[in-house]
Amino acid sequence: MEKSAKFGIHRLCIFLILFFSFFPFHSQGSWMWLGITSLSIPEKMGCGNLPLTNKQKDLCKRKPYLLPSIKEGARMGISECQTQFKYERWNCSTTSEFSVFGYELTSGTKETAFIYAVMAAGLVHTVTRSCSAGNMTECSCDTTLQGGGSPREGWHWGGCSDDIQYGMWFSRRFLDSATGNASALLAMNQHNSEAGRQAVAKMMSTDCRCHGVSGSCAVKTCWKTMSTFEKVGSFLKDRYENSIQVLDRSRKKVRRKEKDQRRVPVSKEELIYVNKSPNYCLEDRKAGIAGTRGRKCNRTSAGPDGCNLLCCGRGYNTHVVRHVERCECKFVWCCYVRCRRCESMTDMHTCK
Ligand SMILES: *[C@@H]1O[C@H](CO)[C@@H](O)[C@H](O)[C@H]1NC(C)=O
Ligand SMILES: *[C@@H]1O[C@H](CO)[C@@H](O)[C@H](O)[C@H]1NC(C)=O
Ligand SMILES: *[C@@H]1O[C@H](CO)[C@@H](O)[C@H](O)[C@H]1NC(C)=O
Ligand SMILES: *[C@@H]1O[C@H](CO)[C@@H](O)[C@H](O)[C@H]1NC(C)=O
Repeated sequence: MEKSAKFGIHRLCIFLILFFSFFPFHSQGSWMWLGITSLSIPEKMGCGNLPLTNKQKDLCKRKPYLLPSIKEGARMGISECQTQFKYERWNCSTTSEFSVFGYELTSGTKETAFIYAVMAAGLVHTVTRSCSAGNMTECSCDTTLQGGGSPREGWHWGGCSDDIQYGMWFSRRFLDSATGNASALLAMNQHNSEAGRQAVAKMMSTDCRCHGVSGSCAVKTCWKTMSTFEKVGSFLKDRYENSIQVLDRSRKKVRRKEKDQRRVPVSKEELIYVNKSPNYCLEDRKAGIAGTRGRKCNRTSAGPDGCNLLCCGRGYNTHVVRHVERCECKFVWCCYVRCRRCESMTDMHTCK
């Protein structure tokens, strides 16, 4: 298909998907749930009236005690996305309070891939934390490790090891519940959600505590623990930067787009995308792209936050910002602290 024709159809699809996603008769979007982090939804709302697909509503009604974890998982995913992309042209901004993300959710780009991965990982993380906290009947600490270890080497498993199996299961059930016909985009999204979950599994680590006379560490108790979500986020950011373009066909098997690499299999830990990203330089309201005008940039940085790259060569404005601080504080007998007011000026640069 011609590029231009494809783009037109693509636009139309985005519109239709955005439109239908707000109504319950639509049952294909597995990302409507992102809406539950939106500010306009009252805290007390139950599973029935949240922006979820019918399958998700059913799951939510059967396990209403997971609703706080679902909400927290979504909040954490979005917040981590914004931290990871703070200094990039696409900064993971949420475009409207209703759709949370706009264009990036349906565009099939690397950014779509990251969003799906980080959201799925967020859900695994919060559900697993809830398991370990003893808040759930279906799951708790990982008991398979209990009693094991290596006494001869002076350590044994103990305490509460995070058991991510239930969280992985729930994240799969909740996010991949989109039915309907396999499309390239659906396959891509499910692949990336799974890559996000795998990242949580891969980043599990072992913590130990020492026992013994005055910290001699003669005996250690160890347990498995999930990494902080920031670590999972930066791991996924790395995967995003090395993500793989795949063929835009709704085949079962994912295949690389690059001709001479078609036979190289794509691991389930990899992030994949079907469409090249726009440059995110200019505002495009219809597509929900904010553009970089007005973004703060760093004049001396050669990285993505540098004025050159961030402002897409349009140049930047310089503003002088005045800071007032308390300084040169002295303790005066007795008993107070006297400070001076110090003023300093710094330059701030924003993209034209
Ligand atoms: C466990 O449940 C308590 C009480 O409902 C809640 O305050 C706490 O945040 C929950 N912990 C986790 C990790 O979900
Ligand atoms: C899936 O495709 C079939 C025929 O290709 C169509 O009849 C059906 O309505 C589609 N289902 C959905 C949910 O789009
Ligand atoms: C992202 O950039 C837009 C301007 O392009 C800005 O309005 C917004 O505050 C930024 N969001 C975050 C989370 O930094
Ligand atoms: C700007 O970039 C330079 C070089 O990377 C760095 O040393 C400096 O701390 C940055 N300044 C700010 C305000 O982030």
